[in-house]
Amino acid sequence: MFSLIAAIGKNRELGRGGELIFHLKDDMKFFRETTSGHKVVMGRKTWESLPGKLKNRTNIVISRHNIEGADDCVSDITDFIEKNKDTDEEIFIIGGGMVYFEFLKHAKNLYLTEVDASDDSADTFFPAFDKSKYSSEIIKKGSEDDLNYSIIKYTKN
Ligand SMILES: NC(=O)c1ccc[n+]([C@@H]2O[C@H](COP(=O)([O-])OP(=O)(O)OC[C@H]3O[C@@H](n4cnc5c(N)ncnc54)[C@H](OP(=O)(O)O)[C@@H]3O)[C@@H](O)[C@H]2O)c1
Repeated sequence: MFSLIAAIGKNRELGRGGELIFHLKDDMKFFRETTSGHKVVMGRKTWESLPGKLKNRTNIVISRHNIEGADDCVSDITDFIEKNKDTDEEIFIIGGGMVYFEFLKHAKNLYLTEVDASDDSADTFFPAFDKSKYSSEIIKKGSEDDLNYSIIKYTKN
């Protein structure tokens, strides 16, 4: 089963210039705790934005090229989805925009940290999705650095 996990702004902003827009400690903690011990799947650009491999997780990078340092590299995304979509194991898709878009229709859960702020200079966005097709559960609401946020788990009906 695939679960997408992301932090997004009011207009589904994800990133700018290859980097994150929002840096909330609570969100990072939630991300770490939720994905720890699992497989995490990311696009090559997100991989390059990280300081290194994410600890305690199997790092799988999607790219048409070989990626040094990753635990696994996937070039055929269709084949990967076909082989993994029906497993009970929760596999986390951690971005970026391109990869969320490709996995959205195959994902059971979306864990979204929805930040009550926008950024006109964002260049990467989380894909639009129809909320009426999901049930939602608020995991946490909070405020950090004057930013209000809600962590919401959407589960496909
Ligand atoms: N807010 C958040 O929660 C969050 C989370 C993650 C990332 N981000 C942000 O998102 C931005 C990066 O997102 P992005 O959309 O530009 O890039 P991305 O999705 O991270 O990576 C795109 C790359 O993945 C590979 N790829 C994608 N689809 C593929 C396919 N079907 N087959 C083979 N390879 C495929 C390609 O690599 P090759 O070119 O090597 O073939 C492609 O260039 C950054 O700003 C990052 O900080 C935000």
